[in-house]
Amino acid sequence: MKNNNYQAEYYKIKMVEPLKKTTREYRKNLLKKIGYNLFYLDSKDVFIDLLTDSGTSAMSDSQWSAMMVGDEAYAGSSSFHHLEDAVKKNMGYKYVLPTHQGRAAENILFLIMIKKGDYVPNNMHFDTTKAHILHKKGIPIDVVCDEAFNTTSNYPFKGNIDIDKLKNLIEDKGKDKIPLVMITITCNSGGGQPASMENIKKVRELTKKYDIPFFLDACRFAENAYFIKKREIGYENKSIREIVLEMMSYSDGCTFSGKKDALSNIGGFLALNDEKLYIEGATWLVLFEGFITYGGMSGRDMEAMAQGLEEVLDENYLETRVKQVEYLGNKLLEANIPIIQPIGGHAVYVDVKKFLSHIPQDNLPGQALAVELYLEAGIRSVEIGTVLAGREPITWENIHPKLELLRLAIPRRVYTNAHINVVANALINIYKRRENIKGYKFIYEPPRLRHFLARFKPI
Ligand code: F0G
Repeated sequence: MKNNNYQAEYYKIKMVEPLKKTTREYRKNLLKKIGYNLFYLDSKDVFIDLLTDSGTSAMSDSQWSAMMVGDEAYAGSSSFHHLEDAVKKNMGYKYVLPTHQGRAAENILFLIMIKKGDYVPNNMHFDTTKAHILHKKGIPIDVVCDEAFNTTSNYPFKGNIDIDKLKNLIEDKGKDKIPLVMITITCNSGGGQPASMENIKKVRELTKKYDIPFFLDACRFAENAYFIKKREIGYENKSIREIVLEMMSYSDGCTFSGKKDALSNIGGFLALNDEKLYIEGATWLVLFEGFITYGGMSGRDMEAMAQGLEEVLDENYLETRVKQVEYLGNKLLEANIPIIQPIGGHAVYVDVKKFLSHIPQDNLPGQALAVELYLEAGIRSVEIGTVLAGREPITWENIHPKLELLRLAIPRRVYTNAHINVVANALINIYKRRENIKGYKFIYEPPRLRHFLARFKPI
């Protein structure tokens, strides 16, 4: 049996939000009505919402009180300076362009860096990163290590870039075709897996050699730092703050969604060290987001984020956060349910190819499992598989991703382990009768972003 000791949280609950239980019959009818796409569910019909860890954190009393002193000035907001100070102090970057969320930071960064036909390597691009690169007529390339695709190996840093793949790409395409290299920490598309300090450092060395800027997609930077502390030799006695500063010091900047590790419900930024890039980015920021001292956020949002950037570096918080995700993962492993190992930082990813091995990818097994979990216990999760992957642009065939996953993303500071037990038990029940689960097909498929808007029916 796995060690599933769980240390009590270093906070208590001050404010609560009621949840409604629905009957199986109600959920069955509702699923039919919404075309079996859980994005169409109203949250009031969801008992435990594991759709995402993004923007769903419970804020602290300090964050709520900071919101009351938000400075809503159009220009020169003191709240912006609080955020800027937090980024400088905790991440070490020089310049901050505030945006309404992470993808807006990607938009600005790629506008100033990418030319048509450029290649942008990353361990694994997140969907919005990929889409923004394509939007600028660039070509996103994943150069993650091969271990990332072996769901059962316990390799501790499956978010690492394969340095040889990156080097070959640079040599093959030429450094002028690669305006920047990125690493996503933690690697969401690969199972919330961390990149090691050694790997980040090696990418820095390589990009320096070729004079290519290096950026982090740093949404879950603190969770990545936690894994470095726990798994990488030489970091066990360093503080999370020290590890974060070292990690960031190897990069030229980061795109950041404040909706994850900044424990905020909205917001983001682009952080940079290069003054010229900052000045260029600022002009686009004004056009797309807002003036440089608020970008896409209100003063109170910036206050909440500044405070969140402090709280997330508290090692006690991080310990219980990551351990709660592990608690769920270990319960599933004990029941022999196939999940990505090691267990990720923000989510447990069920390996659907193994869970529903009788359903071919064209019959959307990830979607089938997501629907089944909602039906079983009112739990909303998300398919990260064939539906999300979309179609080949020329042949219009379904893309068959190597990993067909169901993501159970755990919001920060929101659910208790009693909720987590409900999730584990529901999946265990489904696993016992998995052979009876059938696939799905599209009855409406939009031309793009089908994940969000499609409608299905059972086969
Ligand atoms: N990068 C990564 C690694 C992400 O996980 C996300 C969002 C973004 C960028 C974009 O940030 O949503 O603030 O614009 N991930 C959410 C998720 C949506 O559910 O994983 P955003």
